[in-house]
Amino acid sequence: MYILQLCLGLLFINCCVCRMVHLSSSDNAQPESNPNNEYKQLQIIFEAKNLEFGFPSESERQAVLNDGRYNPHSVLPIDVDVYYSPKNGLPSIFVTIPRFGPGTPYSLAYLTDVQRPNGTELQPYPSYEWHSSHGRDCNGLTSVCRVHIDPCGRIWILDSGEINNVQFCSPQIVVIDLGTNQLMHRYRLPAGTFKPTISRFVTPYVDVADPPPKGLCQRVFVYMADATGFGIVVYDVMNQHSWRIENKYTYPDPDFSTHTIAGQSFELLEGTIGVTVTPINLELPRFLYFHTFSNELQMAIPLNIVNNRSNWNNGLDSVLSKFSVLGKRGVQCAASAMTSAGVLLCGHYEPIGLFGWDIRTPYTPENRILLAHNPIALQFVSGLKVIKNPWGREEVWMLSNRVQRAFTGTINFNEINYRILRCGVDELLQGRPC
Ligand SMILES: *[C@@H]1O[C@H](CO)[C@@H](O)[C@H](O)[C@H]1NC(C)=O
Ligand SMILES: *[C@@H]1O[C@H](CO)[C@@H](O)[C@H](O)[C@H]1NC(C)=O
Repeated sequence: MYILQLCLGLLFINCCVCRMVHLSSSDNAQPESNPNNEYKQLQIIFEAKNLEFGFPSESERQAVLNDGRYNPHSVLPIDVDVYYSPKNGLPSIFVTIPRFGPGTPYSLAYLTDVQRPNGTELQPYPSYEWHSSHGRDCNGLTSVCRVHIDPCGRIWILDSGEINNVQFCSPQIVVIDLGTNQLMHRYRLPAGTFKPTISRFVTPYVDVADPPPKGLCQRVFVYMADATGFGIVVYDVMNQHSWRIENKYTYPDPDFSTHTIAGQSFELLEGTIGVTVTPINLELPRFLYFHTFSNELQMAIPLNIVNNRSNWNNGLDSVLSKFSVLGKRGVQCAASAMTSAGVLLCGHYEPIGLFGWDIRTPYTPENRILLAHNPIALQFVSGLKVIKNPWGREEVWMLSNRVQRAFTGTINFNEINYRILRCGVDELLQGRPC
């Protein structure tokens, strides 16, 4: 485990060095042919050559640029989530930028309407002060990889507490009410549920068993993927307990540590990344679905087993027989999301696009449907959400980021690297224009 972790550390150091060397080089740029409707056209919400950060003042921008707290060429957006205000139906769009090194000025932001040279300006959320200590203030946010906005209008922010595996703070979940922007709840992971300097918590999934309009939004479980500690932490919010799931199925498979996207390869041996659960209204037994990043297996385990703390006292052996390998994908996929009708979505590397699988069918190649083929716009879908809009329709939101270029130091800042895209779930499933 230590050796794996070392490799991850080295990977990021290498990648920063490469980036500096290749900064102004565009010889790796491949010409992007005009898709000519050959590929699925998605609604473009955001496109950027690079992220453009807004600051409280121009002098603050200069200060952090000068001392390295902001390095425009070392920031990588990972996740997107959306909150439609019930007052006016307008969306607030959130973006995460985890801190893999010192150059990320803030790690959770929202999109503004302000246009800057390389893309739309971001602003920090909930405020600049929550981020500006870069790990020294554990009441702030240290590094956020993904978030989850629940049906009750709350954003659940999963903060890994580390920067480049220096564990500044305990990992934590911070919950903010998006109607008032007030802090509602904070939970710091207790010792034993994470591995300091090894764990990196990357994905939260929030399951509300009593959603509105009838429910009180109190019966909540959060499932947190620990990609580099190779586990899942379950947080029972009502009872204020958490426990760790870790076994051979939450580990990566070395045969899938080489990631090849659009002809470029990088090495990454990471564990659990995608976690979702069966929707509550389907009258099906409920399952936690998960997969690890460097692996081809799609896994499932009954939710009542996951949610019962007393099942998890035997370490790697705990209820191992309750885990099902649903099938093998033959290729990696990153973030996943589930529609309310039970279609599990994931962005695959080859062919490059968004795939959907109906959870009532066997996990076979015929049942994994290519819903959106687009090797230009969907080179790496690292953020994926299914959102119900104020008009009652479900939408898929994606953030794509060309991670293979970031990891190999070959980002070409003259082309579009980051996109936020949208399409209706029905439009995707029925093959209609978005
Ligand atoms: C925006 O693009 C210009 C020209 O490529 C570059 O000089 C500048 O550093 C970029 N700014 C950011 C924030 O990436
Ligand atoms: C939790 O699991 C234990 C066995 O590990 C079982 O005895 C108990 O009944 C379960 N509790 C619930 C509420 O299902």
